[in-house]
Amino acid sequence: MANCPFHSERTPSFTVFPDTQNYYCFGCHAGGDVITFLRASQNLEYVDAVRMLADMTGVPFPEDTGERESGRIRKQLLEANKEAARFFNKVLMSEQGKAGLEYLMGKRRLTAQTITKFGLGFAPDSWDMLTRHLMKMGFSKEILKLAGLCRTGKNGKEYDMFRNRVMFPIIDTSGNVVAFGGRVMDGSEPKYLNTSETPVFKKSKTLFALNFARTSCKERMILAEGYMDVIALHQAGFTYAVATLGTAMTPDHARIMGNYTKQLIVAYDSDKAGKAATQRAIEHLNEAGVAVKILRITGGKDPDEFIKTYGADKFKLLLDKSEDHAEYRLDEILAKYDISETAQKVACAKEMASLIATFANGVEREIYTVKAAELCGVDKTVLTSEIARLYKQKAGAQRKKRFSEDSAALTGISDKVNTEKYGNLGQARAEEYLLTHMLRRPEDIEKISKAIAPDEFVTEFDRRVYIAIQQMYAEHGEIDIAVLGESFTVAEISRISEFMRRELYDDEQRAVRDCIEKLKNAHSKVKKPEIEQMQDDELLDIIGKIGKAKQNRNT
Ligand code: UTP
Ligand code: MN
Repeated sequence: MANCPFHSERTPSFTVFPDTQNYYCFGCHAGGDVITFLRASQNLEYVDAVRMLADMTGVPFPEDTGERESGRIRKQLLEANKEAARFFNKVLMSEQGKAGLEYLMGKRRLTAQTITKFGLGFAPDSWDMLTRHLMKMGFSKEILKLAGLCRTGKNGKEYDMFRNRVMFPIIDTSGNVVAFGGRVMDGSEPKYLNTSETPVFKKSKTLFALNFARTSCKERMILAEGYMDVIALHQAGFTYAVATLGTAMTPDHARIMGNYTKQLIVAYDSDKAGKAATQRAIEHLNEAGVAVKILRITGGKDPDEFIKTYGADKFKLLLDKSEDHAEYRLDEILAKYDISETAQKVACAKEMASLIATFANGVEREIYTVKAAELCGVDKTVLTSEIARLYKQKAGAQRKKRFSEDSAALTGISDKVNTEKYGNLGQARAEEYLLTHMLRRPEDIEKISKAIAPDEFVTEFDRRVYIAIQQMYAEHGEIDIAVLGESFTVAEISRISEFMRRELYDDEQRAVRDCIEKLKNAHSKVKKPEIEQMQDDELLDIIGKIGKAKQNRNT
C-alpha cells in the first residue's frame, strides 16, 4: 500500500495486488494495470505507455507496425518541437540573433553556460523562417499548426507563431520539448507568448525546469512565478527551483511537487498579484498535504531582481528565513488592520480565528492561537473558544457535505463513467454483478454469454464491457485487463478494475441467475416516453406482457 498518486491523502489507500497484477485506490477509485498506471500518471496514450514499458524492460517495440495514429502524431509533435528548439538556439548564436543574445547576456545577465543549459533561443524577426525550415525538413503544415509553431493567416499562408522574441523551451521530465515561452525584448505586449495546450502539452500539469530540478529538489524545492526567476535561481546555484507556466497553480501542480519534495518554498513576486497568488497556492498545497514555507522578498520585486541586486548569498539568507505558511498568513492579516483601534482589533482577531479554524491539526491550532493572541493583543481564552466554535461548525458542514455526496450517489445525480447508471440503478447493479462474476470466474463467461445477449444490457457502458470481455476471452482464453486498455479510457479501466475487486455472493450461481432474470424482465418493459407515441393495440399488447411478467414473478 502507498499514498495514492492520483489524489491527495496522508494515509495510504492505494493498493497493488500482485496476484492479479493490478492496482486499486480505495479512496478515489482509481484502478487498473501497469499500462493504465502509466497512462494516468504520465498522461500518455495507450501505445506510448506500452512503448515506455518496452523501453524500461528492454523488450523491442515493433515501431510503425500497428502503431496508432495518436502515438504517431505525438511523436511528430515532439520531433517538430525539438527541431524548433534547435533552430531557435542556432539563430540566437548567429548574426540574426545578436539582439537576443545581447538582451539575455547583457540586460538579464545570463552566462553562456546558463543559456546552453536551458537551451534558450531566439525567434527571428521574420514571418515564416521557422515554418519554412521545418517544412523543408519534411514536417507537414498540420503538424506545425498542431504544435502551435505556426498559424494560417488571412492570405492563406503560414506564419510563425513566435517572432522577434527570446525563446524558452519547456522540457518535460523525460527530456521532450513540449512547448515554448517567448519574451519580447522591449515593453510591447504580450510580454510572454506561450504555446497553448497541445496533445503533448498540458499547462496544468507541467512545471518549468522540473527536468533539471528533479534530481536536487528532494529536501526542498523553490516555486517561483516566472521563467526568468527560475533561470536566475539555477544560475545562482539554487538548482531546485521550478515555476508554473503563466497560469495559477492547479491541484495537479501541487500534487506533482509533493511527489518530488519534502518542503516547498513559495517565492512569488512581492507585488499585490504575487501575494494573492501565494494565498491561493497555500490552499492547494495544504490540500495536497505538501509542507509549505513562504519566502518574502524585500528590496526587489522577484527572485531574479533580488539576486541581481543583492547576490546569491543574501538570497540564501532569505531562503533560510522563509516563514511557515501559517505565520505568513497571520502576518498578512495583521498588516490589513490598525489594531490600536478596538473595532479593528476585534475584526483582526476574528479573521485570524477563522483562518486557524481551518487547520486540521489540533496542535497546530493550539500553537497558532497563542501566536495570534500575541500578534493582535487579545486574550488567548477568547480566541480559543471562538476557534473551537468555528472548527465545530466547519466539521459539521463537512459531515453534511459528505452525507449529501453519498446520497447524491445513491439517488443518482451522476456517474461520470456510466452516465446511465443512476437512471437505471437496479439493472445497472445486475449488469455490474454479472461483469464482476465474469471477470472473477472466466470459466463461466461462455455460459453467461449464451444466457443473455448484449442487447439485453440496459446501460451502454456495461454493454461495451460485456462485449469486450466476451471478445477477449474468445481470443485469449483468459482475463487480462491490459488487453482491454486499448478500447477504454483510463477512467473506464479504473471502473473495470473496481468490478474485479468486488465480492461475489455466497451462492454464486444463484446470484448470476437472479441478475440475468432481472435484466430480461427489465428488457421486456418499455420506457415512458415511447408509450406516448404508441398505437392503442401495441399498448394493450405490452400491458398484457407486463401482467404476465408480474404473474411469473409472484409465482
Ligand atoms: P512576470 O510579469 O512576473 O514576469 O510574469 P517575469 O517572469 O518577472 O519576467 P521578466 O523578469 O519581466 O522577464 C511571471 C510569469 O507569468 C507568465 C510567464 O510565465 C512569466 O514568467 N506571463 C507573464 C505570461 O505568460 N504572459 C505574460 O504576458 C506575462
Ligand atoms: Mn522578473
